[in-house]
Amino acid sequence: MSLRPLKWENDALTMLDQRQIPLRTEYLHLTSSADVAAAIRDMAVRGAPAIGIAAAYGMALAVLHHEELHIADKRLRASRPTAVNLFWALDRIQGVLKDGFAAVLREAQAIEAEDLAMNLAIGEHGNTLVPQGARILTICNTGALATAGHGTALGIIRTAHAAGKDIFVTSCETRPRQQGLRLTAYELTFENIPFRSIADSVAASLMRAGEIDLVVAGADRIAANGDSANKIGTYSLAVLAKHHGVPFYIAAPTSTFDPTLANGDLIPIEERDPRELTESEGVRIAPENTPVYNPGFDVTPGELITAIVSEKGVFYPPYNFA
Ligand code: MRU
Repeated sequence: MSLRPLKWENDALTMLDQRQIPLRTEYLHLTSSADVAAAIRDMAVRGAPAIGIAAAYGMALAVLHHEELHIADKRLRASRPTAVNLFWALDRIQGVLKDGFAAVLREAQAIEAEDLAMNLAIGEHGNTLVPQGARILTICNTGALATAGHGTALGIIRTAHAAGKDIFVTSCETRPRQQGLRLTAYELTFENIPFRSIADSVAASLMRAGEIDLVVAGADRIAANGDSANKIGTYSLAVLAKHHGVPFYIAAPTSTFDPTLANGDLIPIEERDPRELTESEGVRIAPENTPVYNPGFDVTPGELITAIVSEKGVFYPPYNFA
């Protein structure tokens, strides 16, 4: 059994509220596209594929409740800017909108089912890159919670573990929202996969000490040349990996590829609320009015990526996904 962030039931979208994990397991019952857009924006659901699936169900709710569909679509598109899966899923829904609720729901369910299948294939392809006994570094949460199930980068880890490879995971805390500490640690515990969590800044000395055999991360958008946007801090891991001769892999389904963008400079990067940095659990920890720069993502240049794993296989540089 795998964790499941989203479930369509009784004409509503049931969403595991990821903001509460690991302390509480609470579900939101969403009945409008505005509810879903707010849940994406506030990160009750997060992770590129899960955001796309949620938005598709958001449109099913919009059709079911006779909302203004162009407004629903626009609001969902405005919820988060970087993960292209959001726009990819909404484009797919646009293609069936004229056919009514049953068709839209069917398409949303197909998007979810296809994502799970893609994740499992990524796991199999990625597993070929994982040596027996590998010590693997990862960042953010790219597991079942971030997808329809199984996961991308964490899906590779899960598949390698299931194959009996005796792996050990080091999970970056992932500043400032701590998806690694809260969600990846939760999933690895749930799956009984041996791991430890670290503050992001520990990665350098671990690599220097020879304690990391490979890095694997997810992506929110991959440009035609392989430049890959992912959670802030991923780029520094890639630079560190290059310096220390450690393979650095990106894992993502083709719904995360954006062939319309020639390179990563064109990927819109979300800038988030300064309070993610200046507050801890709602309590201010920085001097009042501290100026803050808080991007949610960075871009790793394709030339720093040893290989990109999708459901279609393992791709090596120079990348050309146009
Ligand atoms: O801000 P988040 O938690 O949505 O960021 C998630 C990531 O950066 C993931 O690595 C990416 O979306 C891939 S999830 C399979």
